[in-house]
Amino acid sequence: MCGIIGYIGKRNIIEVLISGLKHLEYRGYDSSGIAILKENKILRYRATGKISKLESSLPTSLISHQESSNGYSLGIGHTRWATHGKPSEENAHPHIDCNRNFVIVHNGIIENFLELKSKLQHHKFSSETDTEVVVHLIEKNYNGNMLEAIKNTIKLLEGSYAIVLISRLEPQKLFFARKDSPLIIGIGEDETFIASDVISMLGYTNKFIFLENYDYGEISNTEIKIYNLNSEKLQQRSVNIVNWTPQMIEKSGFKHFMLKEIYEQPQVLRENITARVFSEEIVFSEEIKFTKKLLKNIQKILIIGCGTSYHAALVCKYFFEHVLKIPVETDVGSEFRYRECILQKNTLVIFISQSGETADTLASLRIVKQYKLPTLGVCNVIGSSLFREADSTIYIRCGPEIGVASTKAFTGQLVCLYIFGLYLAKIKQTISQKRYIELLNSIYKVPTYIEQILSDTSYIKQLAKMFYTKHDFLYLARGINYPIALEGALKLKEISYIHAEGYPAGEMKHGPIALIDKEMPVVIIATKGSLLQKVFSNLEEVKSREAKVIALTNYGVESKSIDYKLVLPETDEFVSPILNVVPLQLLAYYIADLLNREIDQPRNLAKSVTVE
Ligand code: M6R
Repeated sequence: MCGIIGYIGKRNIIEVLISGLKHLEYRGYDSSGIAILKENKILRYRATGKISKLESSLPTSLISHQESSNGYSLGIGHTRWATHGKPSEENAHPHIDCNRNFVIVHNGIIENFLELKSKLQHHKFSSETDTEVVVHLIEKNYNGNMLEAIKNTIKLLEGSYAIVLISRLEPQKLFFARKDSPLIIGIGEDETFIASDVISMLGYTNKFIFLENYDYGEISNTEIKIYNLNSEKLQQRSVNIVNWTPQMIEKSGFKHFMLKEIYEQPQVLRENITARVFSEEIVFSEEIKFTKKLLKNIQKILIIGCGTSYHAALVCKYFFEHVLKIPVETDVGSEFRYRECILQKNTLVIFISQSGETADTLASLRIVKQYKLPTLGVCNVIGSSLFREADSTIYIRCGPEIGVASTKAFTGQLVCLYIFGLYLAKIKQTISQKRYIELLNSIYKVPTYIEQILSDTSYIKQLAKMFYTKHDFLYLARGINYPIALEGALKLKEISYIHAEGYPAGEMKHGPIALIDKEMPVVIIATKGSLLQKVFSNLEEVKSREAKVIALTNYGVESKSIDYKLVLPETDEFVSPILNVVPLQLLAYYIADLLNREIDQPRNLAKSVTVE
């Protein structure tokens, strides 16, 4: 949902901004723009479409440009995912005030912008965006002191914002403010960056300050000043070292980030397991800050997430109920935050989010915190809002996930939560030692089994060739694999734009079976488990309507109704979802590739959904 970057330092400002925006492109890519100061004038360039279009539209004189006698340059950039106002050059950021004194980039939504705009009747607006109102308010509130103008402006804003500004009236500084949208300062040697994520700054530094809600301030070439609206005092913020490397954000020979991330799964899962499982013992050292007493008394679990993270929540519901024998409820953030959920004491509430910045998940977290229930985040981004706001957070150690379609983060979430589930089951004594060891052993083998799946993908590619022209797919499964049917369908939809439905196989006869004819590929999960015979019955129902049946199954499982059989390594039924999702990720990937889709940046989507 929009990516922003700002820079002050001695590098070529255009190169820094464009390279940062290219790394931020996963957050939104319908238009982009940059602004710099030159000879005390604001120069602004904007374009619709990808960053490469903006880059090629820049005058060559600008590219070699270095500002200011002291050698320092400064500028801001933005890549947009449209919320208010269609994707167009006028609506692209940066936005500028009437007298061209201030220029701003913004990520978030100003919910009361219409009301604020109605009070700025003498100002000339040139876009349909909510953002533009902020720069006009700064113009109105400026009385010779930018920090005062920012403070008085953000007091008026409702909604979410990460803002970076420059002004020709105080030309040697970057100004910023943040509420509910991520904003991070990157500290280099004699240079400072500010951006929506660490990835866009990784090539230059690994030292970061994660700004907090209501922070605002200024960055000059000598210092960083951070104030907070609540206390209005100068803030001391810790500098965090992030051990991601620039190599992690390269495609490393893969055609797309998504494919690279699918192939990274064995390695990242192994890392997650070996960091926490020592022989038969599970250790969560610093991550879980709850006392054993609190954990022992947990009587219910509620898990909240969105999209793929919600599917991870659903899988965990089945797993937790199996090992913990307590009720587990799940919800998507956008529903939970508006329903009258009855929250009982002794409930542990888990929030799953790869980015840790998904607005609906964070809003749900903030609601739950009001009830003083223990909250556990499961997250891939250190320093993200979820990381900072949940009582404890499990770090899923997957490395940067750049492809919009989540893959390694999903299996990372599952492995970490499975280990947590077993850890909790031990504390609560709800699992026998035999079952604990069986499950732990099966989890240990997951990386090796995924390596086996990835070592020969030729059959999945063949299937993709056979079916990529179809318009509808159905994914069916039962029990703990039902959420994998949902996830397989989501992967296909989001990157290939083919309509796909995930359904619990037993529900087919209550309606969706009417959709089936000989044109319909049906992907069915029929790996070994307690419900296999039930799945077979559903398979017969589908086959007798002439569907083309693609089954994910194990060696030794036979049925005449299966047309195409993907044989997977055999594992415990409760661990099987972590393997079963991998061929579905690949099937979606190869179909989308045959259709020439923009796999890493599918239309209309953004990696981090930081707006409601
Ligand atoms: O960062 P989060 O895990 O909170 O993101 C949640 C969803 O937006 C995300 O999983 C989305 O559904 C993916 N594009 C799915 O591949």
